[in-house]
Amino acid sequence: MTQTQQAQKILVTGATGTVGRQVVAELLARGHAVRALTRDPAKADFPPGVEVVRGDLTEPDSLVPALEGVTGVHLITFGGAYFAPLETGPRILELAHAAGVRRVTVLHGGGGTPLEDAVRADDGVDWTVVMPVEFMGNALEWADGIVTSGEVREPFVSRLSAMVHEGDIGAVAAVALTEEGHGGQQYVITGPELLTVADKVATIAEARGQEIALVELTEEQAVAQWRAAGHPEDVIGFLLEAYGNTPEIGRTVVDTVEKVTGRPARAFGQWAAEHAAAFKAG
Ligand SMILES: NC(=O)c1ccc[n+]([C@@H]2O[C@H](COP(=O)([O-])OP(=O)(O)OC[C@H]3O[C@@H](n4cnc5c(N)ncnc54)[C@H](OP(=O)(O)O)[C@@H]3O)[C@@H](O)[C@H]2O)c1
Repeated sequence: MTQTQQAQKILVTGATGTVGRQVVAELLARGHAVRALTRDPAKADFPPGVEVVRGDLTEPDSLVPALEGVTGVHLITFGGAYFAPLETGPRILELAHAAGVRRVTVLHGGGGTPLEDAVRADDGVDWTVVMPVEFMGNALEWADGIVTSGEVREPFVSRLSAMVHEGDIGAVAAVALTEEGHGGQQYVITGPELLTVADKVATIAEARGQEIALVELTEEQAVAQWRAAGHPEDVIGFLLEAYGNTPEIGRTVVDTVEKVTGRPARAFGQWAAEHAAAFKAG
């Protein structure tokens, strides 16, 4: 923080999640105060100094104490099982205005969610849509297969991804929540390189110091595997489309992280080194 920047208090929703906990960490690292929202404070595990508050985004009035005295709010677009889109955006924003909130970031959750639409239509706050491509953290879904049988079983193994480190999503959100100049922006956030599934597997193998076999599945075998894992049919349809026909946005590297945060985007090698233990037996 420079001398002209003031420490601010920010409310982070989704704070126990993959991205939210990185927003919390990046705000703390920049010297700001963080209030973290969760439906169950007893289960939450935050770094020292974080103020934990109970609240449920499906019941906006439960957020009144959480909003008191904050200058910025990080929002998610879903609440409850299977990322059900929140319909409560307008009321959440009304309460945010009443509390004096000046900046809002929203984690994009797929095309046209009602909460994101409400944020974009709000001219009473400086809003920023944070639009990451595939999270590097999705690779943790391979951890069980790697630990138990030393293999990754995937379809479409030559698909390309500009996957992004969760910490960089948190960093972009933290800057947008606390500094001028990011209002009305939609930030696509990617990592620094394009990777195939084979590249990702090789990177994890190097980080854990042991080979991993990559087994290419047919589309039918992949669908059977996802059904056996309990994925609902709409999620399976989404995965088939995303993997078989990755949109250009998901396979194009952009320099948002460096432009917004002043630091280059973190590579998958760094992510794999940080998470190597998850891919090792015992
Ligand atoms: N995975 C990817 O590659 C990818 C890429 C781009 C975008 N996205 C988007 O990222 C989002 C998922 O983010 P994530 O992975 O960080 O989420 P996550 O790890 O699944 O965490 C879910 C969070 O939502 C909170 N939550 C759920 N319902 C709530 C409610 N009713 N009230 C308050 N909090 C509630 C949970 O808090 P508590 O349980 O503590 O209350 C938890 O912190 C989705 O919108 C997805 O579309 C994902």
